[in-house]
Amino acid sequence: MIENDVLAKFGELFGDEGEIRVYFAPGRVNLIGEHTDYNGGHVFPCALTIGTYMAARKRTDRTLRFYSMNFEKPGVIEISLDEMKPKEDGEWTNYPVGVIWAFEGRGMKLDCGLDIVLYGNIPNGSGLSSSASLEVVTGYMLKDMFGFDVTNQDLALIGQYSENNFNGCNCGIMDQFASAMGKKDNAIFLDTADLSYTYAPIALEGAKIVVTNSLVKHSLVTSAYNDRRNESAQALKDLQEVCGIKSLGELTEEEFEKYKSSIKDETNRRRAKHAVYENQRTIKAVDALKNKDIETFGKLMNASHVSLRDDYETSCEECDILAEEAWKIPGVIGSRITGGGFGGCTVSIVKDEAIDTFKEQLTKVYEEKVGKTPEFYVVEVGDGPSRLV
Ligand code: GLA
Repeated sequence: MIENDVLAKFGELFGDEGEIRVYFAPGRVNLIGEHTDYNGGHVFPCALTIGTYMAARKRTDRTLRFYSMNFEKPGVIEISLDEMKPKEDGEWTNYPVGVIWAFEGRGMKLDCGLDIVLYGNIPNGSGLSSSASLEVVTGYMLKDMFGFDVTNQDLALIGQYSENNFNGCNCGIMDQFASAMGKKDNAIFLDTADLSYTYAPIALEGAKIVVTNSLVKHSLVTSAYNDRRNESAQALKDLQEVCGIKSLGELTEEEFEKYKSSIKDETNRRRAKHAVYENQRTIKAVDALKNKDIETFGKLMNASHVSLRDDYETSCEECDILAEEAWKIPGVIGSRITGGGFGGCTVSIVKDEAIDTFKEQLTKVYEEKVGKTPEFYVVEVGDGPSRLV
């Protein structure tokens, strides 16, 4: 059990006396509804069974001591509760510190420091929300250890707030919401306009969700992501001159076509087109899933990829190769880039009998064209955060 390894490491580094608790929060994969969450649209992610483990124990002073089993080189990192500022070289510690800082900003102050050991089994930089899972596990730990009165939905909002204001990534709510509100064998159909949501069972009779890691992480991902946000916001401003909407998610495809000429910049127009059509695709996809029409669901996933590739331009050559090759394989129901983009993973729904061919063919083509061997994860849909020990 992973929690035992994390506990053993904790004992080795910090001693095993006192009350040490261990927590887990999952990563997520988004099935459809990409770059819609900051445009007032719908998303359809699910929590995974991989994520971030955290062992924690209270201290008697005001020091936070962090150690990550994934980044062992810097060793134990110490930060005072009285000096919580984003650190340029802080990298991963900025996530848990940002959450503690956000709790304090809401009046939930820590009366002592903590010793913390972390371990994550989400491949780093894969676009499966390792950072959101780290934020949510931190919030869940704080709630449990200090008795703060927060719901899991609050944990998602606090995680997003800290990522926006402490870490400088202007992300939407999807990743933190999926991690904090995950439910085994269900995806979450979330309307980001008002945070209303329903769970939809993922019953893929005879098929599985396969995540393929391109092993590509482009630089400047955060700035490119923030650019997309700004471009969508500008398109919305232009549209607001001609129609009374609060977000792009309010428009149907027909309404968008009617008003789109008010968006002055051609690039911004394509960004808005993606946001509007992707939102409608997500609504249609969830309907299709409810009607057990998995073929339609798959076609909408493929269309989502095309739109991200051509209109939103958040795909990359490597993920295009993975998705486009997948589309050729009989038994692949749908395949698309997932998450923020510019690298990371594709998500595919693949019939059981086609999984081996899928892996073989994608590996062959990717090795030929990119010179790397992609990684495959046949994923399970898991629950939200929990205390393990
Ligand atoms: C990242 C962000 C999310 C969302 C996706 C794109 O994962 O953290 O809020 O915008 O990109 O759908």
